[in-house]
Amino acid sequence: MKPETIVILSQREIAKMRRAGSLAAQLLQHLEPLVQPGVSTLELNDEAERWTKAHNAKSAPLGYKGFPKSICTSVNEVICHGIPNAKQILKDGDIINIDVTPIVDGYHGDTSKTFIVGNAPPKVQKLVEVTEKCLYLGIAEVKPGAKIGDIGAAIQEYAESFGFSVVREFVGHGISNVFHTAPDIPHFGVRGKGKKLRPGMVFTIEPMINEGTHESKMLADGWTAVTRDRKLSAQFEHTVAVTEDGVEILTLP
Ligand code: MF3
Ligand code: CO
Ligand code: CO
Repeated sequence: MKPETIVILSQREIAKMRRAGSLAAQLLQHLEPLVQPGVSTLELNDEAERWTKAHNAKSAPLGYKGFPKSICTSVNEVICHGIPNAKQILKDGDIINIDVTPIVDGYHGDTSKTFIVGNAPPKVQKLVEVTEKCLYLGIAEVKPGAKIGDIGAAIQEYAESFGFSVVREFVGHGISNVFHTAPDIPHFGVRGKGKKLRPGMVFTIEPMINEGTHESKMLADGWTAVTRDRKLSAQFEHTVAVTEDGVEILTLP
């Protein structure tokens, strides 16, 4: 199978995606109360790894293309793929995206949320709220016959109406027993453009929304993507399936 081929999953496979997705969502729920001032991103990682193993699952990020840890922890100006680190201690007012992907019975559940550490000013809360709403507006576009461009257009219109910007370099992706596969799901775009959605397609929607410029920069570790202007970036992610009459979110507890 060429990686650019969009696979249609069977009901059996979607049931497996639902189990992986549920575990992923439960893992985020488990980690949420640990997100407090004074905790290190490595402690969050280590608890995620322990919990995942205890649930007979595997952490897909660990060793994926050389990624060194089990989850991604993206703090403040980090757009995505932040690497957990013992020296990175959360402090009041930080925002942190935690992105988890357990593998259950060979299938991946990929979900993330941005948490506010302690208290943050209203404009930071607004960025986080708008980003979560962008995810749900994108999901609301998903149904048979809709186009991939409809998802990005809905997200981009909403984010930009607040003066925020949409990251271009990182996009949602097809997902199944493979972590990242076709199709790409951009979080920007034009209604009516792109491939048509069909029942059985499974992919992520994971908008990264920036306070300032949409431009990113890769740090020297080769993973950590930051905003070029070092302003804040937030992200939320779900794995979804196209159903006969709409959409199912697979990453629910
Ligand atoms: N979970 C991320 C995504 O949403 C991918 C992380 S890949 C890693 O696609 F190697 F950085 F872990
Ligand atoms: Co993810
Ligand atoms: Co993803």
